[in-house]
Amino acid sequence: MACPSIKLNNGVEIPILGLGTYKSPASQVTDAVEFAIKEAGYRHIDCAWKYENEKEVGEAMRRSGVPRSEIFLTSKLWSTHHHRVEAALDESLANFGTDYLDLYLVHWPVHLNPCGNHPQIPTLPDGSRDIMHDWKLRDTWSQMEAVLKKGKVRAIGVSNFSERLLEQEILPYAEIVPAINQLEVHLYNPQHKLLAYLRSKGIVTQAYSPLGSSGSPLLEDETARAIAAKHGLQPADVLIGYLAAKDIVVLPKSVTPARIADNYTGALAAAKTLTKEDIALLDGVAASGKQKRFMRTWGIDLGFDNWP
Ligand code: A2P
Repeated sequence: MACPSIKLNNGVEIPILGLGTYKSPASQVTDAVEFAIKEAGYRHIDCAWKYENEKEVGEAMRRSGVPRSEIFLTSKLWSTHHHRVEAALDESLANFGTDYLDLYLVHWPVHLNPCGNHPQIPTLPDGSRDIMHDWKLRDTWSQMEAVLKKGKVRAIGVSNFSERLLEQEILPYAEIVPAINQLEVHLYNPQHKLLAYLRSKGIVTQAYSPLGSSGSPLLEDETARAIAAKHGLQPADVLIGYLAAKDIVVLPKSVTPARIADNYTGALAAAKTLTKEDIALLDGVAASGKQKRFMRTWGIDLGFDNWP
């Protein structure tokens, strides 16, 4: 089944479903991604330098036999690399064994000390994260613009950026408006206000953790289960398809072949089947007392509502 796509603000098309690879172990991700592309129909893989599996994802893309040009590949700039975007991108490109990315995102709006006590998550003696508080995110973004202009990536965007950070740190200085903001968006963290703001700026939302991440806790939600039963769908189909129906690019993660295949066909079916009433019900679940984020936070205020 062909996956619908969305046009980004620079004309690049992005398939509405992509396979997430966060927490996909290097030992399993090659088979999972190869299966997703070759057997299940995915043409969009979401990855990141921090996931430590870019080499394996690149290998899977080659093994799939599907041309590179038919696969939408995303990676992300890690937080200890904000001062050297092009070098970090080159490392990711070498890991994948490709000469361009379709999308490169600033993973978090936080620059961690590149000379700290750990190459990925440096900490201070009190255990808190070793953050470069004086760093200007606009200086990260101008380097992102430069690698786009060089043709090393087809689109650039951000991840985990609030409206406040976009308004104060990026948009006043940007030559190029981010194409994407990748966020924790799901039934229990719909962020309606932020998504409306992004739409008003022409920035497409990507949703990570649509099932609630590890252990997929949202599959137990009563409203999702009732709507799934009504339509003869699985709860996962409803949770993923609900977001796709709202023109949100969704990134369900799995390393299990049957789930990878079911999530794709089921979510596309659900996106077509869910009614306006179903979507309105799902939209109201978080506000009925179930608001919850699953992603661990950074111990600093990034400007989000409902930030623990
Ligand atoms: P696994 O990778 O072992 O198959 P999210 O997309 O919200 O990050 O959720 C990922 C989690 O949900 C992983 O633990 C994944 O397990 C699991 N998962 C993915 N798809 C399904 C599914 N259709 N049914 C049950 N669990 C799923």
